[in-house]
Amino acid sequence: MTIDPKDYDYSNIYKLMIGSIVPRPIAFVSTVSRDGIRNLAPFSFFNGVCSNPPIVLFSTVIRKDGGHKDTLNNVEATKEFVINIVSEDFGEEMNICSFDFPPDVDEFKESGLTPIPSDLVKAPRVQESRIQMECKLVQIIHFGQGPGGGSTVFGEVVRFHIQDQLLDNFKIDPDKLQAIGRMGGPTYTRTMDRFDLVRPKAGELKNV
Ligand SMILES: Cc1cc2nc3c(=O)[nH]c(=O)nc-3n(C[C@H](O)[C@H](O)[C@H](O)COP(=O)(O)O)c2cc1C
Repeated sequence: MTIDPKDYDYSNIYKLMIGSIVPRPIAFVSTVSRDGIRNLAPFSFFNGVCSNPPIVLFSTVIRKDGGHKDTLNNVEATKEFVINIVSEDFGEEMNICSFDFPPDVDEFKESGLTPIPSDLVKAPRVQESRIQMECKLVQIIHFGQGPGGGSTVFGEVVRFHIQDQLLDNFKIDPDKLQAIGRMGGPTYTRTMDRFDLVRPKAGELKNV
């Protein structure tokens, strides 16, 4: 089947995207509002951009009612956020934070996750997360205007916090991290079943 996205409702195109772009890493983003209310929400349109400087991105989509997510409003107001990496042992709590709570609700309280102070940004870190990245806003790019449109937030990581037992000479042990990824709908994947492909060296490929 060949699909021209212009012929279909954005909700169907969304299903194509979340079913095709798998597995997706999850940015569990903590922010504070202009009034100092804490916010915590997961975003799986998330990735790294480059390491010098260390840039990450995540995207928030416009809700069905046309409203923007609290996370985006807070980042626009404060220019700061923290990305917390999600491990399997607090997946349930992460899921609670995906509920559409009003802006004056603190998802740390709703989920029972523990806020701890950051070094360089006002947004707290999630203590249960084994890797936390304090970020300063670089740029936000908006796409589309109505429901299903989105905004991509680019941030520079100004501080990494990584549990000591995960690290060996800057290599992170995935067995200890136990990160989860998002598939379509309510389905997640573990990162415990892995295999290696060593990249080819000069002279190893036939026509090169
Ligand atoms: C694992 C997971 C990944 C999600 N990824 C996204 C995403 O990439 N973009 C988005 O706008 N919403 C995403 N959501 C939904 C938001 O988490 C949800 O709308 C949340 O209420 C936003 O909270 P906020 O308004 O406090 O920012 C995701 C939900 C889950 C459970």
